[in-house]
Amino acid sequence: IPNNKIEDGLAGVNVLITAGPTREAIDPVRFLSNHSSGKMGYAIAKAASQAGANVTLVSGPVSLQTPTDVNRVDVSSASDMHKAVMSHVSDCDIFIGCAAVADYRPVNVGEQKIKKDNNELTLTFTKNPDILADVAKLDHAPFTVGFAAETQNVRDYALKKLKAKRLNMIAANDVSNKDIGFDSDKNALSVFWNNGEEHLAIADKEQLAFSLIELITKKYKSN
Ligand code: CTP
Ligand code: CA
Repeated sequence: IPNNKIEDGLAGVNVLITAGPTREAIDPVRFLSNHSSGKMGYAIAKAASQAGANVTLVSGPVSLQTPTDVNRVDVSSASDMHKAVMSHVSDCDIFIGCAAVADYRPVNVGEQKIKKDNNELTLTFTKNPDILADVAKLDHAPFTVGFAAETQNVRDYALKKLKAKRLNMIAANDVSNKDIGFDSDKNALSVFWNNGEEHLAIADKEQLAFSLIELITKKYKSN
């Protein structure tokens, strides 16, 4: 398969990738998270590394092996992920935000386990920092690629995120389709940039990652 050939398209290029879910603590024994498996982000890290890049992977909790030659930094919460990304972004040429970052975290984290004393429990949440948007608005921002997980109006919402977060590219997937996305081994992506788009048909995440890295490399080099 030509997509799987190992090239040196990214030799010497520093690539920073986020992957997996985040965990937002509620108390010492509980957290809020999501169904992200991390597979897409890990496949992208592998593909970028095989294309010759120096890859740093900031990863939420997943049960996946670190791809060969990839520098993995483990984090738990969105705030931890934000901190880790900001401390690695300065010498980064390409940033790919693949993580399913929790949009909100509980305002108060109980120091002790919450007891079931009441019939109802109300938690108040506050918004997490947007890691991707914060990277894109840096003074010397890397070539920044985002993901968009949507359940409807995929193209419209993806284009809105591309503009609002001032990204170079966005890869959108329809997470309402049970055959692809979050927990699956397969995915399909619609990739958008300022004046173009390309649709990567349903394929194994590993294969799709190679196609996406190929596309990112092309756009990064012509940027
Ligand atoms: N993202 C991030 N930090 C956050 C939230 C999202 O870096 N706090 C990144 C994701 O890694 C992804 C992109 O932003 O690359 C889009 O995530 P998505 O959840 O689709 O969009 P949001 O901007 O969070 O908006 P919404 O969830 O309301 O659709
Ligand atoms: Ca979100």
